[in-house]
Amino acid sequence: MRIEPLPSDLVKGDRVHRSIYLDEQVFRDELERIFYTTWVYVGHESEVRQVGDYKTTYIGLQPVIVARHDDNQIYVMFNRCTHRAATVCQEHSGNAKVFRCEYHGWLFRNNGELLQPTLGSGYDERDFSKSDFTLGRAPRVDVYRGMIFASLAPEGPSLREHLGKAADYIDLAFDIAPDGNVHLSAGRQLYSYAGNWKLQCENGVDGYHTNFVHKSFLEVTGIPALMGLFSASSTGRAGDLGGGHGLLDSRAGLRPMAAMSLETAAGKRALDALTERLGDRDRAEYVLMSGGTNGFNLLVFPNVLMIAHQIRVVHPRTVHSTDVEMYPYLLGGASAEQNAARLRTHEEFYGAAGGGGPDDVEMFRRVFEGLSAKGVPAVEWLHFSRGLRRTVVEDGGEFGNATDEHPQRGFYRQWLRMMEAS
Ligand code: FES
Ligand code: FE
Repeated sequence: MRIEPLPSDLVKGDRVHRSIYLDEQVFRDELERIFYTTWVYVGHESEVRQVGDYKTTYIGLQPVIVARHDDNQIYVMFNRCTHRAATVCQEHSGNAKVFRCEYHGWLFRNNGELLQPTLGSGYDERDFSKSDFTLGRAPRVDVYRGMIFASLAPEGPSLREHLGKAADYIDLAFDIAPDGNVHLSAGRQLYSYAGNWKLQCENGVDGYHTNFVHKSFLEVTGIPALMGLFSASSTGRAGDLGGGHGLLDSRAGLRPMAAMSLETAAGKRALDALTERLGDRDRAEYVLMSGGTNGFNLLVFPNVLMIAHQIRVVHPRTVHSTDVEMYPYLLGGASAEQNAARLRTHEEFYGAAGGGGPDDVEMFRRVFEGLSAKGVPAVEWLHFSRGLRRTVVEDGGEFGNATDEHPQRGFYRQWLRMMEAS
C-alpha cells in the first residue's frame, strides 16, 4: 500500500522534512513498518535471571511481558488478557508464577497459558477450550550477548542479520566485563520529553552538539582532552554501520589514557585475565584499549542506545511524546568498588541532577518548539549534511569526523528503506 505523503518526499540523503517529527500518519506508519516489523530490544537476560522473573515493556505501543517460565525459557507475551483485553500485569518487574487479570480474574501461567477462567461453570467445553486463550506471544524471540529482542513479524532477517556490524560493538562493550557478562541489576532511570522519538536516536550518536550543549560540564571536568574529542580536528569518528545502526567512536582520542591504565598493575592483571578467557592476547588488548561503551556510543536501529555505562531504550508514545529508560549496566566479575564507580560516573552526567543528560532533553524541547515554524522554505527541513563529502569507507561502515552526521544519515537511510518496503 502506498503511504501518503511519500516517505521519499520527506527523507532526502542530506535532510529530513519537519513533518516526520509531527505527522500522525507518519508515526502510525513507523509503528507498522518499523517497530512491528523489525527486531526490537525488550530487555536483558539478567533482568529475568530466575524462574518466575518478569518485566514489562513495549514494542512500539504494544505492551508486552518478558518472563522466564519453569522450563527456563524466556517468553515474550502481549500484556493483554485474552478475555476482554485488560493488561494482566501492572508492575515494571518482579517474580510471579502467574499473572492475574484483575478485570474478571482470569489466571495465566508465566508462559501465557490460561490456567482457568473464573466462575468456569459459565463456559461449556463445546465452545470453550483453554488452549485457545493463551496470551498472545511474539512470533520471534532471540538473544544476542544477553540482550533479548523480539520481532512481531513471523518471518524476516534473523536477529544476527539485523544486528550486522552493530554486533561487533555489542561484543566490545560486554567483553570488557571480567566474566564476559553484564547485569542490569542497578535499576533504571526514566525521563519523558515532549518531542518525537527520533530526536533521542539522532542525539545519542551525535558528536556535533557535545562541545556546545555540554560545554559547562566539559569545563568543570577540567580535562581539555575531552573537548578535543568533539572538535573539528578530533581523531574520533562518527559512522554509519549499515542497517540504520550508528557509531560515535571516541577511542582514538582516549587511547593515551587507555594505554596508561593498561600499564598499571591492575591493567596488567586485567589483560592477563581477559587473555585467558578469550584465548587471544591481541583481542584482549583491543577490548581493553576500546574501553567498552566509554570509548564509543552505539545506536542499534531503531531505538536502543549503548552509551557510557548504560543501555538506553527509546519508547515512542505519540508522535510528539517519548519515554526514555536508562539502565546502567554492571560488569560481571568486577569488584563492588569498580561497579559502584560506574554508577557514580553515570549519575554525574546522566542523573536527574547530572551535568549533561538533562541538557539534551532541553534541546529536544527547543527543537519541538522550533518545529512549529512552517510555511516558508527556510523552516521546512532539518539538515544532516555535515561531512557529506568526506566519507571514508572502513571497518564495513561509512565514517567521517566525530562531529559529522554520518550516523544520522545512515539511520534515515534505513528508516526510508523500511517505510518504503512493500
Ligand atoms: Fe481479563 Fe476479563 S478482561 S478477565
Ligand atoms: Fe548530549
